[in-house]
Amino acid sequence: MKLWSGRFQKETDALVNDFNSSISFDQRMYREDIQGSLAHAKMLGDTGVIAQADTAAITQGLKDLLADIEAGKVEFSADNEDIHMNIETLLTQRIGDAGKRLHTARSRNDQVAVDLRLYLRREIGEIKDMVLDLIQVLLKQAAAHQQTVMPGYTHLQRAQPITFAQHLLAYGSMLQRDVTRLEDCQTRMNWCPLGSGALAGTTYPIDRFETAQLLGFDGPMSNSLDGVSDRDYVIELLSALSILMMHLSRFAEEVILWCSWEFKFIELDDAYSTGSSIMPQKKNPDVAELVRGKTGRVYGSLMSLLTTMKSLPLAYNKDMQEDKEPVFDAVDTVKQCVPVFAAMLDTMKVLPENMLAAARKGFINATDCADYLTKKGVPFRDAYKATGQLVYLCTSQGKTLEQLTLEEFQKIHPAFDEGVYAAIDLQTCVSQRLSYGGPSVPETTRQMEALAKFVKEHR
Ligand code: ARG
Repeated sequence: MKLWSGRFQKETDALVNDFNSSISFDQRMYREDIQGSLAHAKMLGDTGVIAQADTAAITQGLKDLLADIEAGKVEFSADNEDIHMNIETLLTQRIGDAGKRLHTARSRNDQVAVDLRLYLRREIGEIKDMVLDLIQVLLKQAAAHQQTVMPGYTHLQRAQPITFAQHLLAYGSMLQRDVTRLEDCQTRMNWCPLGSGALAGTTYPIDRFETAQLLGFDGPMSNSLDGVSDRDYVIELLSALSILMMHLSRFAEEVILWCSWEFKFIELDDAYSTGSSIMPQKKNPDVAELVRGKTGRVYGSLMSLLTTMKSLPLAYNKDMQEDKEPVFDAVDTVKQCVPVFAAMLDTMKVLPENMLAAARKGFINATDCADYLTKKGVPFRDAYKATGQLVYLCTSQGKTLEQLTLEEFQKIHPAFDEGVYAAIDLQTCVSQRLSYGGPSVPETTRQMEALAKFVKEHR
């Protein structure tokens, strides 16, 4: 028998029963549902809406029920539609009339909104910690590779020399923003919808400030219609998770490239690679590929929710039950990806000699050659042109810039002298890039210190 069966003369069709039910996926919010009900029951007792004896019975009943659920002793049923009605029904079976008083001055509409906020607020905390762990892995690898010269790329063409630390710390900056995005989202969602009722509040003398405070919210949401119909926080979280996954996916793409024989900048640990069923020589970066692949799935969840919400009139509509599977899936996916990605990076073997060998090809010190002339008073455009001619000379002779003789340099521009060889040395190119945010050791040290401080402050 349904909790709401009073005005109905017929049983719900079996197909509709299954179609309507969300218990298969919203049961994961059982803890939050009970937490919300405990706060609601306390407030109802404190304001005299129900007797303190009822509050006591409900409180004990809910605590016992929670223990039994955690012990795996409770079965939920699709007949009771969702986690909210399952818990209420089970409670009432156990404690009788007091259980039937729990839903006074409340609706499932504000109940589900509060449950989901509580649930996601906690999940965000866990995801944030995982991202901070990942940043810590980057910091460890960066510390080991402040002097490891590699080519920096634009258009995937070798561009200018950088260090591996600088490259890793770029991802550190992205992840740092991801953490603050998650925190912002947590802060903005931390307002309590409980007491909005179905949509129009209630005539009972409830205290929304008390429930908000009991549940650790910053306060009650200001408008009851908004309280039950707002899913911005879900969309905002999905957006933050999508951006985080986009970062991981870019990184994953680079890991995949770096593992290829064409690059061979890194080698993944055997424990984080897989083999082929037919090609005995293969060692595949499946972890990175899956992270890249799962990014699409998280974006899908974001699009799903944006689309679900776009035409919904105020206030609650059942469409909004479709918010849960996508956001749960996104949360689960991210929680799978971040730790495995961190472990993969933590155990990878970096091959500095291959990075250096790649840096030696492709004239990535050409800008430094031009800058050398410029610092001698040659206008940059002229220096740029002279260096271009030198590169052309090298390509026609199969040489690198450092292999040219001083005469060859001077034939193209008289301002060249012996100093050019030191100026275009790859180590010099990196160590002289002392500008704020650059790849030189003092600058990567500064970045690492700031990032380490950030991690400490955001735990
Ligand atoms: N299970 C619903 C959801 O997830 C909450 C219940 C509100 N349903 C209702 N018919 N008022 O959105």
